[in-house]
Amino acid sequence: MVTEAKSQTSTYVVTGANRGIGLAFARELSRRGDRVIATARHPATARELIALQVRIEALDVADEESLAVFVRSLAGRPIDVLINNAGIGQAGPGLERLSLEDLNLNFRVNAVGPVAVTQGCSPTCERAGGAPSSTSRAASLRSPATNREDGMPTGRLRPR
Ligand SMILES: NC(=O)c1ccc[n+]([C@@H]2O[C@H](COP(=O)([O-])OP(=O)(O)OC[C@H]3O[C@@H](n4cnc5c(N)ncnc54)[C@H](OP(=O)(O)O)[C@@H]3O)[C@@H](O)[C@H]2O)c1
Repeated sequence: MVTEAKSQTSTYVVTGANRGIGLAFARELSRRGDRVIATARHPATARELIALQVRIEALDVADEESLAVFVRSLAGRPIDVLINNAGIGQAGPGLERLSLEDLNLNFRVNAVGPVAVTQGCSPTCERAGGAPSSTSRAASLRSPATNREDGMPTGRLRPR
């Protein structure tokens, strides 16, 4: 839970925000007054996200056309923080039963996806005065408002 009082608002993009950690990010950022651009593969069925009344855009991070449409939807709006949350998390079968198709999809979503989204959002982050920054977890963006080395917002997100 975020407990610190805010002195200014920022614009966050949260990918994969219809459930899980992404939804929690969107909910908490919205609750504390930040602007949230939340993405989901299927916005129409993202009921919990819709209930937050944040801006929702469609995005499949493994689909180039979907990413291009999403980037156009930003229309140059400055982004302070990109949270590359979308990913495939479940453990797969053992190596001997691993399908190369699944392996490929995992790479496209978990490895190529964050870099592609970061590239797409980079011009709008630069417009906010920031620059792309890769962290050990995933590609991410930060602006001067988020000046920690790990790319997380300065002193704002803290465990309960
Ligand atoms: N939970 C953990 O303990 C843990 C640990 C380490 C890392 N992580 C990582 O943290 C992130 C969030 O974890 P979580 O537990 O909240 O995962 P989750 O509940 O499985 O949610 C994953 C989110 O990513 C979205 N997603 C999947 N493939 C996508 C694609 N091709 N394009 C766009 N969105 C896509 C899902 O959308 P759909 O609903 O449409 O599938 C969903 O919104 C994931 O990247 C996960 O790998 C989690």
